[in-house]
Amino acid sequence: MDKDLKVRLDFNYMMEDFIGEHGIKHQQVNEILHKIEHAQKNMEVKRKEGKMDFRDLPYNQDEVVEEILKFAGENKGKIDNFVLIGIGGQALGPVAIQQALNHLFYNELSKEQRNGLPRFYVLDNVDPQRIVELLDIIDIEKTMLNVSSKSGSTAESLSQYMILEKMLQDKVGEEKLKDLLVFTTDKEKGNLIKIAKEKGYKTFIMQEGVGGRFSELTPAGLLPAAMCGINIKEMLAGAAMMDEMCKTQDIFENPAYMYAILHYIAMTGGKNMSVMMPYADSLKYMADWYAQMWAESIGKKFNFMGEVVNVGQTPVKALGTTDQHSQLQIYEEGPFDKVVVFLGVDEYKKTINIPKVHQDIDSIAFLGGYTQNELIKTEQMATEYAIMKAGKMSMTITLPKICEHTIGQLIYLYEVATAFMGELMEVDAFNQPGVENMKNAMYAMFDKPGYEEKRAELMSRPEKMDKYMI
Ligand code: PA5
Repeated sequence: MDKDLKVRLDFNYMMEDFIGEHGIKHQQVNEILHKIEHAQKNMEVKRKEGKMDFRDLPYNQDEVVEEILKFAGENKGKIDNFVLIGIGGQALGPVAIQQALNHLFYNELSKEQRNGLPRFYVLDNVDPQRIVELLDIIDIEKTMLNVSSKSGSTAESLSQYMILEKMLQDKVGEEKLKDLLVFTTDKEKGNLIKIAKEKGYKTFIMQEGVGGRFSELTPAGLLPAAMCGINIKEMLAGAAMMDEMCKTQDIFENPAYMYAILHYIAMTGGKNMSVMMPYADSLKYMADWYAQMWAESIGKKFNFMGEVVNVGQTPVKALGTTDQHSQLQIYEEGPFDKVVVFLGVDEYKKTINIPKVHQDIDSIAFLGGYTQNELIKTEQMATEYAIMKAGKMSMTITLPKICEHTIGQLIYLYEVATAFMGELMEVDAFNQPGVENMKNAMYAMFDKPGYEEKRAELMSRPEKMDKYMI
C-alpha cells in the first residue's frame, strides 16, 4: 500500500467532543453495534453471493482494460471529438473523472497540447439546444460517438443516438459509420446490444451485476477516461487499495464504514442533508456524482421487509471557496439539519504566488507574498473551524494529491460507503424504483408498446385547477 497516496477521513468535527450537544457521542456508535455488525455480515455475504459485483472491478478487468487501451491507442489522432451519449451514472462519473484528472480547460487546448487526444463532450440532458449547439462547434465527421446505456433503452440516450447516428450515416455512409460509433452496454439485455450485433458496431460490455451510478470503474467510465489519456490502470489500482482498507472489520479503521455509520447516526438524529464541498475546481463534479450516488441509492420508500419507510438524506452540492460566499451562511447559522463533507487536497496540481503589490493599501497588502494554495487551504480550515464553532457536523476527506490513484480510491470509498449505508438503513442501495417510475411514465406517454396501463393512468390524472394558477 502506497501510504503517501492514502486518502484520509477525519471525523473529529462530527463528534460531541468538538461540537457539543449536536455532535455524536462515542457511546452512540456502541449503541448500534449490533446493527453495524449485521450490516458488516451482510456486506460479506452479499459479496460472496455475487450481489456486490462492483467490488470485483479492481481485480477482474485485465482483459477489457487492454482492449480499451488498444482501442484508445488506435483512435488517437484520428478523431477530433469524443462525444459520450449517456445519462445518470453513465454520464456523471465520466464528467467527474475528466474534470478531476485532465486540464480544467481541456477542450480549449489545441490538438498538440492535447497530445492528439480528442476533445470530450457529454450529451446527457435532452434540451434540444444542447445537441444543436454542440453541432455548431464540432465537425461530426471527425467525431466518435460513445453510446453508453446499461439498459439500452433510456429514452434520453437513445434519442440522442438516433439523431446523431442518422446525421453521421448521411455524411459518411454505412461503412465509415462503424469507425465512429462505439457502444457500452449490457451483454444481452436491451436494444443497443441487438443493434450492435446486427450492424457490427464495436461494443464494450458492462459487467452483469453493475450498472448506473456504480459503473464508473466499468467500461462505462474507463473507456471515456482512456480516450482522453487518463491512466485507467492507476484508477483501478487506487480502487484496489481502497478495497483493502474497506475489508477491515474494525470500523474505526474502515473509512467507508465509518463514513456511513456517522451519516446514519446523524440522519437518525435529524440531519437529513449531506453536503459535499470540495476545495478544488477539479473535484467540482465529484459533488454531482456523489449527489446521484447518495440520492438514488438510499432515498427509498420501502425497506428490505417491504415496509413503507420513506427514508434518505438529501445530497447537496457545493464548492469551496465559491460557496463560502453563498451557501456557507446557512450551513453555519441555519438549522442543525446537515452534515458537511469537505473534500480537501494536500498538494494542489499547480502553485501560484500572489505578488507583493499595492503594499500601500493595508487591507490587501497582507495577501502579497503568500501563494494561492495557502489561501485556499487556509479558507478551508477557517470554514471547517467556523462550522465546528457553530456546533454543526462536518468531516473532511483529504486527497494527498489529485491523481488517478487517489480518484480511484475516492470513487471506491463512496461506492462501499453507499452500499454499507443501504445495509444500515435496510434499504436496497442498488435499485431505483422512483427513477424507473418516471421512465415508465415517459414511455407510456410516447405510446411505447407494453405501457398501455400506465398511459391510461396518466391520462386520467386529475385536472389542475385554475384557482391555483396566477
Ligand atoms: O444509477 C442508475 O441506475 C441510473 O441513474 C442510470 O444510470 C440512468 O438511468 C441511465 O440508465 P442506462 O444506463 O440504463 O441508460
